[in-house]
Amino acid sequence: MRPLTLAILRMLSDGNYHSGTELGQVLRVSRASISGGLQNLESYGLVIHKIPGRGYRWLNPVQWLDSGQIHRYLGECADSIQIEIRDVVESTNSLLLQRAIDQGSPASRIKQVLAAELQTQGRGRRGRSWSSGLGDSLIFSVLWPSQCAVNTLSGLSLAVGVAIIRALASLGIHDIALKWPNDVLSGSGKLAGVLIELHGDMLSPGTVVIGVGLNLKLSCVTKDLVDQEVSDLTGITGQVPDRNRLLAMLLKELAAVLDTFEQHGFEPFREEWMHCHAYQGKMVQISFSDGSVKSGIATGIAPDGALLVNTPAGVLQLRSGEVSLRELAEHEYQGS
Ligand code: BTN
Repeated sequence: MRPLTLAILRMLSDGNYHSGTELGQVLRVSRASISGGLQNLESYGLVIHKIPGRGYRWLNPVQWLDSGQIHRYLGECADSIQIEIRDVVESTNSLLLQRAIDQGSPASRIKQVLAAELQTQGRGRRGRSWSSGLGDSLIFSVLWPSQCAVNTLSGLSLAVGVAIIRALASLGIHDIALKWPNDVLSGSGKLAGVLIELHGDMLSPGTVVIGVGLNLKLSCVTKDLVDQEVSDLTGITGQVPDRNRLLAMLLKELAAVLDTFEQHGFEPFREEWMHCHAYQGKMVQISFSDGSVKSGIATGIAPDGALLVNTPAGVLQLRSGEVSLRELAEHEYQGS
């Protein structure tokens, strides 16, 4: 999306009509450029109404991210977090990972946050893509200069799931479940995903990039791009959430979780995670990357974050997230 298009959309986000002449005067471009800047926005799920003589009106405007508002909601916590907001990036995770490489050893303990209005090449776990549209999600990454050795981070992605659950609960949003290792579900639809990437060698403290995508009000265009069942907060609560407040709550909970994790690892979050475990006591099927498949009952989580699955051949401890997990329906395992 071009900078001019974003500038026009910012002017249209009050939901009122604005003529091409007015928009052109403010942005110092011709009316033809305004018209050109508003072409093909349906492909982003944006609906712009044009009425001759009145101008353009954005029917489903987004709430823009605003670092001032986010700071106010963060309160005291704002001192340990640096926030940067970009309109369009390929991937907030890729950008912060590159920054970690460029910066070398972190000079400060400050957590750097990069949030974007639009991500064009969002990445998910296991080499998948992550789809979102302009302002229809919260898309952000946190660069955490962690003191933990890289080989002690195995339960981190689960702890991040707990932070998301806590942030949603603080806004009155309950009945959200966690699927190992770090999917956030509402019903059977995926509400949020977490992608953790590391920079550093295994035995020394490294920099960690934690990326979160949380669906707020997905357009049909975004939904069509996703090949699994999804949910969004607007569908759950019936209201479009305040993006700035929600991001601040997520960052607050995430900062607290990271500080505890650094001291005590995953153990302090284990019970809370199991309380939200979508598949606790259920029959699951695990598909491994070599094509093999095993099934058993998910009995819980080990202190280091491994998923415990009781199979006929003994208890499996799953540590790598490079497997795919699904609940088996009764008819799929009865009689087997
Ligand atoms: C998954 O469930 O597969 C993880 C999805 C993670 C998506 C987020 S969006 C912000 C950050 N930037 C990315 O490219 N990916 C993560």
